[in-house]
Amino acid sequence: MKKMKVRKAVFPAAGLGTRFLPATKAQPKEMLPLVDKPIIQYGVEEAMASGCDQILIITGRGKQAIEDHFDVSYELERMLEDRKKLDLLKIVRSISDMIHVAYVRQKEALGLGHAVLMAREMVGNEPFAVLLADDVIDAKVPCLQQMVEVFDQKQCSVLATQVIEGKMISSYGVLDVKPVDSPFGDRLFEIKNMVEKPRPEDAPSNLAIIGRYILTPAIFDCLANTPTGAGGELQLTDGMRLLLQKEKMYAYVYEGRRHDTGDKLGFLKATVEFALKREDLGDPFREYLKGLQL
Ligand code: UTP
Repeated sequence: MKKMKVRKAVFPAAGLGTRFLPATKAQPKEMLPLVDKPIIQYGVEEAMASGCDQILIITGRGKQAIEDHFDVSYELERMLEDRKKLDLLKIVRSISDMIHVAYVRQKEALGLGHAVLMAREMVGNEPFAVLLADDVIDAKVPCLQQMVEVFDQKQCSVLATQVIEGKMISSYGVLDVKPVDSPFGDRLFEIKNMVEKPRPEDAPSNLAIIGRYILTPAIFDCLANTPTGAGGELQLTDGMRLLLQKEKMYAYVYEGRRHDTGDKLGFLKATVEFALKREDLGDPFREYLKGLQL
């Protein structure tokens, strides 16, 4: 049988971003910059570096800035050209040249599962990646690439997972898993079950589902048959639980550092860490931080 490849990456970005109000009242959270690059661009670059050549962004009302960001900006390019700001011109062009980006609108924010279901027509009958842009992952090998390597071997859905200690596990989908023998060592598990946001005492493990998924197209029928769950939303976790009854699914403990930039403190930490890593800003910024009377 011909091996399936992951070529398409879906970015659900139709959520309301309530944790980041008022910044997100008239601006999508995906466009908040980490240093000088919008959050969603980190995710798109990760998807491209992992072999995806088609990007699909699920948008909603008030998300126009995302489309503009990946589009050509003639006026800006002209002005930079005239003023001989060629370095900046290169940066601006590289974004619109980047890749083919398509958009589908989710008319109402009916949940992450519903947003993924919106991708059905564009994805068709092939495996695809889902990236939640506000999980920005700093890694030597891009997180999605690590997962693609598992997918290439197993040809099954793969979820990225992270160990979360203590009560914070209740903020996540949580996995019940069993170990598997594989070249991926103790990073790979077979998924037995999953629950969305369990109470700490009910959590089946400390393995949380984070914002990176590789899913087979069978997920679409599952989502279409998933009843509305917690909060009146169609939950992706509920759809994946149905998928689990049909197919094997794997969880992979990725290597890297995740920042939850949809959360204010997470965003601040990510900003500081990314700025410190920058060649042009790292040294003066470090000096500045050291001089603060904390
Ligand atoms: P979140 O749980 O982070 O929700 O959604 P949110 O609305 O974006 O942010 P808060 O919690 O209110 O601050 C997880 C991902 O699912 C997308 C979001 O855009 C985010 O990437 N999503 C969520 C949709 O695309 N549609 C929905 O109906 C819900």
